[in-house]
This record gives sequence, structure tokens and C-alpha cells, in this order.
Amino acid sequence: MSQPRILVFDSGIGGLSIAACIRQALPGVRLMYLADSARFPYGAQTEAVVIERSKALIAEALSAFPCDVVVVACNTASTVVLPELRSMTDTPVIGVVPAIKPAASLSRNRRIGLLATPATIKRPYLTDLVESFASDCSIERIGHPELVRWVEGQLAGEQLPEQALSRALQPFRDAGVDTVVLGCTHYPLIKPLLQKLLPEVIHWVDSGEAIARRVEWLLEQAGAEGSALKRPLPGRPMEGALFTGALPEGVDGFLASLNLSADQCLGHWPAKGGVRSAESA
Ligand code: DGL
Repeated sequence: MSQPRILVFDSGIGGLSIAACIRQALPGVRLMYLADSARFPYGAQTEAVVIERSKALIAEALSAFPCDVVVVACNTASTVVLPELRSMTDTPVIGVVPAIKPAASLSRNRRIGLLATPATIKRPYLTDLVESFASDCSIERIGHPELVRWVEGQLAGEQLPEQALSRALQPFRDAGVDTVVLGCTHYPLIKPLLQKLLPEVIHWVDSGEAIARRVEWLLEQAGAEGSALKRPLPGRPMEGALFTGALPEGVDGFLASLNLSADQCLGHWPAKGGVRSAESA
């Protein structure tokens, strides 16, 4: 396998936090990024819409750009779509779900905060994760309704409302959590701000590095040479960044700031009429 290609999918720009970790660990892979920005945020969509959109868009992307691994870099989608996606394609699919297990191994006081979307904190998948890996911990869940939009707004130069965010995080202070799980891929993009607002938290856990290790393992199982995966490819780090809505303002500079400049950034992908969703079907 020469120059494996990875498809990284999210509702918006959050999955770029995962793409950046993959790029950092595996500079020898080609990255394609796909964001369903026309339906962002997924936390406000029904499960049926999230499942239909994810399946249709990933199928479309795989036929246009055959890939060796798909990463669903969205907790909100991964907690509902993985079984159907895996039965749809032979390409290995990795999902990103809240890192409850690593958090439980790090927390000393057994009090963990989970910051995620309102949809993710309600999912049975999450209850199962907590029961399986953190049954001796108390988990304080914050499902913030606006935070993903605030993170995306920063791209267009909007100021993130720090005081409102600080107030929303109060339950973590009250519960005295020593560990916080960033259960949405948008949130590592504002980790320095979160650390500033919650200086008492010792461990901040997200899924980026674990996902990069999983990608590496899958590629090696498929015959890729470990040393080739670590050897930087010439040219820009990403082949493409595809958005189903309008191209976000400021996207080029943002990609460059994550060391993820792309050969092409396309808005309104794929051409109109290419993908039907449960809503429009
Ligand atoms: N990055 C997505 C996640 O990890 C954002 C969710 C949304 O679009 O609501 O959950």
C-alpha cells in the first residue's frame, strides 16, 4: 500500500482536531476532510438525519476518493451511526466516542466531568461506556447547546463569549472534578481557554492521539510499512477539505494554523442533488 488515504468526517470543523493528530503521528498518509456543514450542528438533528446524512456523504466521498480508512471524527454521529456504516462499506471505519475509559484510569478522586453536545450526553452508547469503564466514578455531564457554534464562529472572527462559557462550566467546579473528557471534537480546538477557565482540573482527555494510533494499526494490518507512514509526504498535508455548505470564512488560515493546509477547499460539495437526506427524502 503506497500513500494510504484517510477520510476524516465531521459535521463541521471539529474533526480537524482529529485530522491534526493523525497528521502529526502519520505524516506519510494523505488526508481528505469532509464536513456536513449544511446540516451543522448534528446535535440539533434527529438520529435518523445524522445516520442518513453520514452514510450518504461517506459513500459519495469514498466513490470520488477511494480511502483506506474512514474516521468518523464526530462523537454525536459515532454514537449512533457506526454499525450501519460498517455494514455499508468494506473500508475500515473508526469512530470517535467520549474517552471515558482513559479518563477513569487517570482520575484520582473518581470525579470526572464530561463536556459534550446535548445529544451525546443522552445517548445509550454513553451510558454503556460509563457502566463498562467508569462504574466507580461519578460523572458530571454538561451537554452545551451552543459551544460547537461558538467554536465555529471563531473562524469568522466572532468573539467566543468567555463569561457565558465559564458560567456553563460551574457544575464541574461544584463537583470538584479532577479530570475532564472533551466529548466533542470541536472542544480540543479551544482547550487552552477551557484550561484557563478550569485551572483546578488536572487531566484533560480527548480521543485524538488514540485515534491516530488506531489508524496506524489498521494501516499496518493492511500491509502499510510503519516507517513509510511516518515519512512526511511532499506538498500540502491535506488533499482536500470538502464542505456541504458554503466554504467557511477564514478556512484557509485556520487550516494553516493547524498545519493542515489543503490542495483544494470546496464548498457545496457534492454538486447539488448528489446526496439525499432523511429530511428531503
Ligand atoms: N464535532 C462534533 C462532535 O464531536 C460536533 C457535534 C455537532 O455537530 O453537534 O460531536
